[in-house]
Amino acid sequence: MAENPDDVLHVEGGKPLNGTIKVRGAKNFVSKAMVAALLAPGKSVLKNVPEIRDVHVVSDLLRLHGVDVDVDGANGIVTIDASRVQLADVADVDTLSGSSRIPILFSGPLVHRLGEAFIPALGGCAIGGRPIDFHLETLRKLGATVDKEHKDGIHITAPNGLHGAKIHLPYPSVGATEQTLLAAVLAEGKTELSGAATEPEIMDLVCVLQKMGAIISVDVDRTFRIEGVKELQGYTHTSLTDRIEAASWASAALATHGDIFVKGATQPEMITFLNVFRKVGGKFEVTDKGIRFWHPGGDLKPVAIETDVHPGFMTDWQQPLVVALTQANGLSIVHETVYENRFGFTKPLVEMGATIQLYRECLGSLPCRFRQRNYKHSAVIFGPTPLTGRDIDVPDLRGGFSHLIAALAASGPSDVHGISLIDRGYADFRGKLEALGADFD
Ligand code: EPZ
Repeated sequence: MAENPDDVLHVEGGKPLNGTIKVRGAKNFVSKAMVAALLAPGKSVLKNVPEIRDVHVVSDLLRLHGVDVDVDGANGIVTIDASRVQLADVADVDTLSGSSRIPILFSGPLVHRLGEAFIPALGGCAIGGRPIDFHLETLRKLGATVDKEHKDGIHITAPNGLHGAKIHLPYPSVGATEQTLLAAVLAEGKTELSGAATEPEIMDLVCVLQKMGAIISVDVDRTFRIEGVKELQGYTHTSLTDRIEAASWASAALATHGDIFVKGATQPEMITFLNVFRKVGGKFEVTDKGIRFWHPGGDLKPVAIETDVHPGFMTDWQQPLVVALTQANGLSIVHETVYENRFGFTKPLVEMGATIQLYRECLGSLPCRFRQRNYKHSAVIFGPTPLTGRDIDVPDLRGGFSHLIAALAASGPSDVHGISLIDRGYADFRGKLEALGADFD
């Protein structure tokens, strides 16, 4: 098939990115808050919503279920009226199935509203196996019957409603934690969820659910306790900022010797990233309006990091930072403990001149599910190495943004193919690149 010319970005690299950009709400919260609106037969209003493709995918999924959704992209306001909810046509839902992992989170809300849910095969970035066993086990524990044999996907029913249960997650999965919260808030009785994840995006979802009328508490040992209530009402809420997008632009400032003020970036959710940014030699200044990130000149320093669940170093921060680490003076080590296969994006970086070696061993001390298994989940980066532009194919959202950063930092031209994938999670990145003085078309 012929390539769409709009899907290729031609970049002339080697220019520092300088200027101001604005980052809105978090992709990985907004999509979940939109699903939460399904729980209440009324109107919900979500503010600070970014103009990204994932918002449109979730809007379309909601509309297929009879829900009214109005997206005011310019002002970042999404209004959802879930007074009416109906079962969607299986074939229609299927057309959106390859686009996102969000459909699985419709399970609990749809079962509460309609007694059943149909979940198509899931999409999302190809960065590991990305199973949904924890999600399905959670739903079963809450009393749902899960039929995986359905020819088009998964059919979930609960003729007698969902009821509270004691659930333990074998790994603190973000999605499975959200699944449990969204399903347990209206389940009859109490639910205890131990081994949960507590990312800031999850805590913002808890805030939304509490506004809606839910009773949820969290213990210091990452156990959520949910007391089911009989009904919930719509909410009005302003999303927390996208800390992944903010960190991506920070890494771009470092890799291109630039100076970027990220309006909207907030410190509390980025403490771990900021510590690493400082250790690498980047400078930042936190203000009431955002965070300024810049390369102060001189050598960047190598670091050893391990990705982890919150409050650890996010796996989604790893990929953009690795590009900056190719410019640090010495050996950096990154041990990826969240996804088994998140270093595929380094191959094009090596072809651009980076020296990166991947290892099956755990190069770090965190407990890791991939120890003694055959996954190349540790990377050693030796720098500084000059990068040279080339043709690149975008593999996944964060890997793709990293390639874009590499192209901007490299000398000479690069063609970045499949660039539209980046629209899934980086709002108006072309406009932002322009504002930062990048040379591209
Ligand atoms: C969310 O994915 C984010 N996506 C990811 O963002 C992010 O990387 C990830 O959390 C970790 O922070 C959204 O919020 C839409 P997980 P999620 O369940 O919920 C294993 C981005 O670029 N697991 O916490 O799908 C899984 O394989 C992305 O914005 C199971 O084994 O992640 C992985 O190794 C990509 N069984 C680990 O847990 C399950 O049933 C963490 O996954 C579920 C997960």
